[in-house]
Amino acid sequence: MISTGTHSLQNGFNASEEFKKKALISDPGIYETAEDRLAFWAERAATLSWFKTWDTVLEWNPPFAKWFDGGKINAAYNCLDRHLEGSRADKKAIIFEGENGDTRELTYQELYDEVCKFANVLRTLGVKKGDVVTIYMPMIPEAVVAMLACARIGAPHSVVFGGFSPDALRDRINDAHSKIVITADGSYRRGKILPLKENVDEALQNVTTVEKVIIVNRTGLDINVCSERDFWYHDVMKDVSPVCPAEETDAEDILFILYTSGTTGKPKGVVHTTGGYLTGVATTHEYIFDIKDDDVYWCTADIGWITGHSYLVYGPLTNGTTVFMFEGTPDYPEKDRYWELVSKYGVTILYTAPTAIRTFMKWGQHYPEKHNLSSLRLLGSVGEPINPEAWMWYYNHIGGERCPIVDTWWQTETGMIMITPLPGITEMKPGSCTVPFPGIKAEILNRSGQPVAHDEVGYVAITEPWPAMLRTIYGDDKRYKDTYWGNWPGRYFAGDGAKVDGDGYFWIIGRVDDVINVSGHRIGTAEVESALVEHSAVAEAACIGKNHDVKGQAIAAFVTLREGYVASDILVQELKNHVAAKIGAIARPDEIHLTPELPKTRSGKIIRRILRDIAEGRPIGDTTTLADESAVIALQSIKNS
Ligand code: WTA
Repeated sequence: MISTGTHSLQNGFNASEEFKKKALISDPGIYETAEDRLAFWAERAATLSWFKTWDTVLEWNPPFAKWFDGGKINAAYNCLDRHLEGSRADKKAIIFEGENGDTRELTYQELYDEVCKFANVLRTLGVKKGDVVTIYMPMIPEAVVAMLACARIGAPHSVVFGGFSPDALRDRINDAHSKIVITADGSYRRGKILPLKENVDEALQNVTTVEKVIIVNRTGLDINVCSERDFWYHDVMKDVSPVCPAEETDAEDILFILYTSGTTGKPKGVVHTTGGYLTGVATTHEYIFDIKDDDVYWCTADIGWITGHSYLVYGPLTNGTTVFMFEGTPDYPEKDRYWELVSKYGVTILYTAPTAIRTFMKWGQHYPEKHNLSSLRLLGSVGEPINPEAWMWYYNHIGGERCPIVDTWWQTETGMIMITPLPGITEMKPGSCTVPFPGIKAEILNRSGQPVAHDEVGYVAITEPWPAMLRTIYGDDKRYKDTYWGNWPGRYFAGDGAKVDGDGYFWIIGRVDDVINVSGHRIGTAEVESALVEHSAVAEAACIGKNHDVKGQAIAAFVTLREGYVASDILVQELKNHVAAKIGAIARPDEIHLTPELPKTRSGKIIRRILRDIAEGRPIGDTTTLADESAVIALQSIKNS
């Protein structure tokens, strides 16, 4: 039986009796208790360390929320200082392994010292409360130090994924008006070095706000160092005081901005604040991952994404967890790297993405079988729907049929996990992210805001505010209102299609907006299209997400050329490279089809459904709205070629 209802599930999976016996949350009554949402979240917030307690739990002037307003808190203090009294001071905060096998460990005391020193460096370089700091770094402990140092002095950080191009970095620096960038000389990637500092130099060519750049020496790459502007991390950290009192920030002060793709070419700066965010991520991390003091917890996400923010940094460190952090990729030097690491460090909890799991499946079970994975006790999945086959493989071959799987649905905007099992009590169904977390209200609605019947497809709505919710889009309240709250006033539109079954379980289908989810990374069709039309050969471009066995979705682009350009394989290759250079390798289209015309309605709107049919090799559906049949005839020849 499950906690949520009266149905007994068919073919569900339960945690073992042994797991349940020790589970942190073993009483399904938590769902009922949390029906009093504000009391539940206030009780959770009270487990954090506050300089001053809040006046109100929630002020809700839809769509603007204030959580724990009047409270004074510091995120870095909660991640560090409060663990220093007692035995946790010497507990490992971060266990790090680099791509080349170099290792480092930082205890909570050591991480605290490093963060305080770097916070003093930032202050000395003129960073003040409220200044946005851009972080463009590899997956190394200094990235966490940089984030926490910003939090310590009340300077919001904007972490930009290290795989983004100089153009993408520039847009994000400009939008945030950053005065300072923290980077590294380079980043190891499958035996090569990505030139991060060189990318920063290129990005800064058209940026006027940035006054200082701090560079961590990660690879020894030969780089250009500007005498006035650039500082080596190891130089500025010399002789700095490790005493740096944490700024008493307001609960509603911005903790960070994180850019994510939306339906236009311009990425959205999602704004997260401090008190509510920390309450949400600490609670979900502790309850969903069943955190115990001796866990070695590994979240494979990069710090450039929300999963890295919430479940590699803020959630686990607030909970005093030992975090394993890995710089490299699963296939370097061999395809068993992850399993070697699990066994070497005794990882107990592994949180990764369905794309990775499908890749491991393709490589074959002999890779995990070479290693002892018996330390694992709980597995997690995030970023895209996990197909039941991949779920079963993860369960059998990684979890040894012993580890529950928490399939966690959430978004950059939600800040925290929203729909998920609680491993000690929720019966799992492969492919379903199960039920809303206690204190979270989610429903499936139709366009006009009516709940749909069981098993009917509709849109995911969050119907009550939650503590880690985004507060706005940086500098653009209107876009925030229109994008998320315009459909159903007072209720949040997530942009995902889904259904709920008779047991109240959620089944996420995928994005319903113009966002493609490639290997769990969000990429806007408009971003790829605007990169394409910047190329001199391109007259018009349209992109769609095409189903892909491993990546979930792959980008397929349809392009019409300008007069005088001739279609060729070389040009297609050039256009793919152009997109990768403009945005980053993750946005490189898998396919580009050159076509004389795109299928449009009479009013000139591109009919993407037809493009999807073509790309996925289906018969083309209804064409009655087409302005000109010839476009489809031309596209048909692509399909047959
Ligand atoms: C998708 C990542 C199905 C979804 C944390 C969402 C999922 C988008 C799941 C957000 C899941 C995330 N099952 N789909 N468990 N988790 N998604 O902002 O489409 O990078 O809207 O946040 O990923 O992606 P984002």
